[in-house]
Amino acid sequence: MTTTTKTNLKIAVLPGDGIGPEVIEQTLLVLRKLAEVRGLDLSFREALIGGAAIKATGTPLPPATLDACLHSDAVLLGAVGSPEFDALTPSSRPEAGLLALRKALGGFANLRPVKCYPPITDCSPLRPDIIEGVDMLIVRELLGGLYFGEPRGRDGDDDSAFNTMRYTPAEVERVSRIAFEASLKRRSMVASVDKANVLETSQLWRETVNRVALDYPTVKLEHLYVDACAMHLMMNPRRFDVVLTENLFGDILSDEAAVISGSLGMLASATVGGNVDLYEPVHGSAPDIAGQGLANPLGAISSAAMLLRYSANLEQEADDIEAAITVVLEQGNRTPDLKDTKGHYNCGTSEMGSKVVEALSQITDRSRAGHAG
Ligand code: NAD
Ligand code: IPM
Ligand code: MN
Repeated sequence: MTTTTKTNLKIAVLPGDGIGPEVIEQTLLVLRKLAEVRGLDLSFREALIGGAAIKATGTPLPPATLDACLHSDAVLLGAVGSPEFDALTPSSRPEAGLLALRKALGGFANLRPVKCYPPITDCSPLRPDIIEGVDMLIVRELLGGLYFGEPRGRDGDDDSAFNTMRYTPAEVERVSRIAFEASLKRRSMVASVDKANVLETSQLWRETVNRVALDYPTVKLEHLYVDACAMHLMMNPRRFDVVLTENLFGDILSDEAAVISGSLGMLASATVGGNVDLYEPVHGSAPDIAGQGLANPLGAISSAAMLLRYSANLEQEADDIEAAITVVLEQGNRTPDLKDTKGHYNCGTSEMGSKVVEALSQITDRSRAGHAG
């Protein structure tokens, strides 16, 4: 995150696998258009990650990719993973490349906004009166917990398997501070989610969050168990402002929360707190629709808005992209994941991208005319 405005940005672009390259292609068209109309100097450096990198180089995070990322102002990633690597152990799969990248970049707070878009409330199986007005931010701890805990592995004799859930107070504290700070710019509410009735890591989590909360007397803090939280998310999602949770719980709850937005393809994310911030849609490589031009690019495109906001302090330009997304939805544009109750949709990936580019031109024309007048 930066508070210094930058109009000159070097962005490492990692399209990855499956629908990753499809949604990133449209995102780059949007960013290029924005650069043209708002006078930004954006340069893009593409690199391999995931299955594409395994095929080309034998490893899911080639050193050249990591180097490009570490020498950029921000990283924009599509998705990794493909069923063809399903037989590999976790440490050699495409997903290992993403986890290694996250660790190397150092971003420990993964911000996943979830909101209800009024023009597509019919895409959610939840009733409109439940989802209308939802606007929450899931803050997922990204470098700890079961994903990175040691020891892990498979054991010889009885072929058992084990992973370790481990957190230090410092790891919990730093992500909690991000959540409390974020809440101050929102509705000043934090819901911390754990399983403190069963897990020591969650007891530590809760104690640490309570300690951090002392520094934020104006923020209303509540603690929820993750199982109950999963239920409340569907029953009354408006009660949530900032949801703070550990790595695996955050992974699961954010896919669940996508039901509120109507499609996983709508959700964006920013990973902050490290050396270089990472922006990626929440969804994966979607092998079931990959290669068919059907993927929804809006989650990736909103991730680019987050990139401009957090890595370059370009608030206006981030707003431009978000406004363009609202406009294309208001115009009734829908990819298949956003099909209406009659099963109708009118856009593939590239049509949706073009609509966003078109809307962006109109929005920025109007705003420049406004400034001139
Ligand atoms: P997924 O997110 O790829 O797909 C889940 C469902 O949502 C599928 O039906 C898919 O078609 C749909 N979907 C996802 N994104 C969409 C979009 N933009 N537009 C329309 N529909 C969309 O999850 P999965 O199928 O469980 O996993 C597939 C692969 O992706 C796995 O290898 C997994 O590890 C990987 N994955 C990667 C990331 C990432 O790179 N950040 C995230 C999640 C999963
Ligand atoms: C996500 C994904 C990743 C995660 C996988 C692909 C490693 O599901 O970004 O949500 O679990 O963090
Ligand atoms: Mn996930």
